[in-house]
Amino acid sequence: MDNRIKITDLNRFKTNNEAISVLTAYDCFSAQFAQKAGIDLILVGDSLGTVIQGRDNTLSVTLDDMIYHTEIVSRVTDRPMIISDMPFLSYQVNPEEALTNAGSLIQDGGAQVVKLEGGRELADTVEKIVTAGIPVCGHLGLRPQSYLTMGGYKVQGRNPEQAKVIVEDAKILEESGAALLVLEGIPSELAQEITQSLTIPTIGIGAGVQCDGQVLVFHDLLGFSEKTPKFVKKYSDSKQSILEALEGFVSDVKSKNFPEEKHCYTLSGPRLVK
Ligand code: KIV
Repeated sequence: MDNRIKITDLNRFKTNNEAISVLTAYDCFSAQFAQKAGIDLILVGDSLGTVIQGRDNTLSVTLDDMIYHTEIVSRVTDRPMIISDMPFLSYQVNPEEALTNAGSLIQDGGAQVVKLEGGRELADTVEKIVTAGIPVCGHLGLRPQSYLTMGGYKVQGRNPEQAKVIVEDAKILEESGAALLVLEGIPSELAQEITQSLTIPTIGIGAGVQCDGQVLVFHDLLGFSEKTPKFVKKYSDSKQSILEALEGFVSDVKSKNFPEEKHCYTLSGPRLVK
């Protein structure tokens, strides 16, 4: 039986005022940890361009990259809802192409929802994808795929004109059929206003506690990332403990303290490796 959190559960979360936990994951390791920890929704984010591929931004991530990582995450989990990011230029050209690409993330990647960044300019695209039977997550505020036109990764919606556009865009995305909405890098007051004005859940990242849920990037939460933005809470300093473990291995190899006798086979011992 399909045990996953479903699109119909999202409204229940919002109505019951039950906050939604969302974490990015990209591979078997991160996805299984996320599921074990009880994460509700996994976002296979195009942030994989930076945290997995080591690039400076997300713009070079391809649809094939997203399918590859989404397939792994959906195959090794059976509880969280899987949202897959549509990469840069896979949905902006026209609604038909966007639908085909969204379909690949569902059919080949095993996602349940696709996410795209933008507002009113995507109304027809969102409608087309949703009408075909694919749930859509919007993404407003700081949109990393538009960092060039935004002049960098900057807080959005601080002035009243910008704030008004974001509020309107949120409403348009909801009316176009979006099932949920990520709000990134906006003032908490604005996120609260949007959250209260919508029936669909909002998921915040750098958008305050009044959103219906919160998302963080796996590597940021665990303290792997070089830079820690203000909105990140580090729940562990894993970088240090991983480094210490690896340095311990190097030192043991160099000093011939590894392997010890208990790690070795003898001529007459058991034949099975595991
Ligand atoms: O790609 C991503 O990880 C995201 C989140 C930061 C919301 O879009």
